[in-house]
Amino acid sequence: MLRTLTKDTVKKIGKKVLLKGWIASIRDHGKVVFVDLRDRSGVVQCVGQNLNKVSVESVVEILGVVVKRPEKLINKNIQTGAIEVQIEKMDVISPAKELPIPIDTDGYEIDEIARNKYRYLDLRRQRMTNNIKLRSIIANFMRQWFLKRDFVEIETPILTKTTPEGARDFLVPSRLQPGKFYALPQSPQQYKQLLMVAGFERYFQLARCFRDEDPRKDRAYGEFTQLDIEMSFVTQNDILVLIEKMFTDLIQKIFPEKHITQKPWPRIPHKEAIEKYGSDKPDLRKNKNDKDELAFAWIIDFPLFTEQSADDFYYGSGSAKFAPSHHMFTAPHPDDIGLLDTDPQKVRGLQHDLVLNGFEVGGGSIRIHDAKIQQKIFDLIGFSEEQKKQFSHMLEAFTYGVPPHGGIAPGLDRFIMAVLGEPSVREVMAYPTSASGQTAVMDAPSEATADQIKELRIKVC
Ligand code: AMO
Repeated sequence: MLRTLTKDTVKKIGKKVLLKGWIASIRDHGKVVFVDLRDRSGVVQCVGQNLNKVSVESVVEILGVVVKRPEKLINKNIQTGAIEVQIEKMDVISPAKELPIPIDTDGYEIDEIARNKYRYLDLRRQRMTNNIKLRSIIANFMRQWFLKRDFVEIETPILTKTTPEGARDFLVPSRLQPGKFYALPQSPQQYKQLLMVAGFERYFQLARCFRDEDPRKDRAYGEFTQLDIEMSFVTQNDILVLIEKMFTDLIQKIFPEKHITQKPWPRIPHKEAIEKYGSDKPDLRKNKNDKDELAFAWIIDFPLFTEQSADDFYYGSGSAKFAPSHHMFTAPHPDDIGLLDTDPQKVRGLQHDLVLNGFEVGGGSIRIHDAKIQQKIFDLIGFSEEQKKQFSHMLEAFTYGVPPHGGIAPGLDRFIMAVLGEPSVREVMAYPTSASGQTAVMDAPSEATADQIKELRIKVC
């Protein structure tokens, strides 16, 4: 007999069905036992007599007949609330021990370490299942939206060379070239620019990015996902209009109950944002208690440089005072090029940040496509000749015909967190790393064997 999903039982009144799933709850009324059976499509109430003992969360199969419930017993809160399944036979496929964490609550009250250790159970809770399913729907919407508009989805390497975005790199030792290291990409920034040199003109990727930086509620430790986009022959306005349309369409399709505070989205110069709101990611909601309000805004006209701070370990030291406000590939405003030599701090960058309800959910820019200007930026951030050499491939690529280009990378995790009003990006990731840097379930980082370390010819001190 073929399996029936719980959601389809309502179409099979009077018929015999075979259900498979987990026991979500048991109510034992002596002779009569009520069992809620859960599968990927929902829950259905099953009722039986003289059943063998079974524990909650065991995997079972139930053979039974679908019957209508009496009018006064209809449960309007669930899809299958108008029927129940009268159990003829229930077999345990896999029994469950008592779970180490409750899964019938929203889970916020449970210690993060326990939730992460038993993430496969934590994900059974309805809120988490819904979040992860929504993430899949959102990612699919984005993918289709861009594919329809002539974008090409291209994967870029994970084992690569450093792409500085302001955080520390994760390094991977090379076995074939002892003493040398790959870096995991902080973003595909250089690869996507090189794809523009290659002539693709419109690129996107749901890209995994790796950054060794302190976690915060809106910042995952280790890895996160960006909707990474790059385009040739565009202005900053083209990028802003396109992204605004994509997110507006997405909200309308996937979250019709939500409303956007202001359309078109406000574009606020960085200086004004700081003066008026004291923040470059202001929360512009009219009513912060309204869970369905989405206040998008663009922040533009950033200064190209900020003062270098102790955190800017990557950039040059010595006499250099400047760090890029976005990253070192961001183009200066064309009207301000002259100021690069005279007053670099006054130079505006063609950077754009996307803000949603007080979170920076995306960042991007028009890029430098002139090797001479790129060199000048390297000098201003204090790169040594050695550091410049690390980017010689970019400068060389720019000598073979490079289209003017620009892009943006909305953070997928952070966007979903902001839309759902979740308190942390970890609530929308299947297997997040904990605040202390421990991976879910697998408990990495872990020690390597002496042989592995020897083979890599590195020393652990
Ligand atoms: P940027 O570093 O601003 O730009 O990152 C873009 C967006 O990625 C998200 N993000 C994160 N999300 C979760 N956890 C993190 N640790 C984390 N770090 C960043 C944010 C952020 O706005 N290559 C450029 C993009 C470009 O210029 O096109 C870049 O990576 O939502």
